[in-house]
Amino acid sequence: MKLTALLYMLIIVLFLPTSCSKTGGILPPPPPDPCSLISVNLNGVVVNPSVSGASDGSITLSASGGSGFTFNINGGAFQSYHKFNNLPAGNYTVMARNSDGCSSVVAFLLSNPTPSCTGVNITVSATATNNVFCESSTATITVSASGGTAPYTYNLNGGAYQAANVFTNIATGSYMITAKDANGCIGNASTTVNNGTAGPLFTQVRTLVRNNCLYCHGGVFSSGGVSYSDDCNIVSGKLRIQARAVDGNPSPMPQSGLLPAADRQKIIDWINAGGRYSD
Ligand code: HEC
Repeated sequence: MKLTALLYMLIIVLFLPTSCSKTGGILPPPPPDPCSLISVNLNGVVVNPSVSGASDGSITLSASGGSGFTFNINGGAFQSYHKFNNLPAGNYTVMARNSDGCSSVVAFLLSNPTPSCTGVNITVSATATNNVFCESSTATITVSASGGTAPYTYNLNGGAYQAANVFTNIATGSYMITAKDANGCIGNASTTVNNGTAGPLFTQVRTLVRNNCLYCHGGVFSSGGVSYSDDCNIVSGKLRIQARAVDGNPSPMPQSGLLPAADRQKIIDWINAGGRYSD
């Protein structure tokens, strides 16, 4: 062993390319690299995992260019068997090396099979809260899905999918909800966001405004630029209604004189309760 090593060193020293040799002597040619004369070709047949997540994929290899091939995968130990079994989906780097040490490296990709949605029935249900008329949208739509593979993502009217099953600040209207499961299978449902009904205190005030003010404010005239034919103008103008019709400030409305005390109380009660369409 020692002797062989010594011999090798001697050979190396002898054949070392002495490029700065001043003697100008002719150098012996370097020993030919066996791998420069041969090209190793590596091919493989991939079998993907049978179902998503399974570890039963394989790569069957065939190599040419020399003999005595051994193979390794992802830098592991070399084996002489030309097949790697029990592989999950992923990227693999395989090296084939012949008995002269010449090698070739090829990358392989094993993919999980694309799951089929045939026979998958995704049931989607959606519940919506109401908006308050005349106010900015505060409704929510809550979705649930079943029948597919979790996790689900959801979208509204074909918009972007989101993981959360609650949609917030939804405007009044009709919506189509789509739920997509982990395999890309889809189910639909529709729901409607309504405006809540008018509250009892607002309804009383609206009635008295229609009876006492509408003629000059929205019916025939829009005196002072004020129209109460739109319910939301009653809501947004409530403090002016209070000033004119309850306090008579700067002068009473209707102009003929303040409303009866009971009617004025209805305005006060409604505003004290919040003065909203829903109150
Ligand atoms: C017969 C016609 C008439 C009736 C009925 C009437 N208004 Fe008026 N209103 C006017 C005129 C004219 C103006 C513009 C002059 C003014 O501001 O006084 C006006 C202006 C207003 C304004 C705008 C000015 C402000 O102070 O902000 C409000 C609010 C108003 N009215 C509320 C009411 C309410 C509430 C009622 C019913 C309870 C009512 N009015 C009934 C004729 C009427």
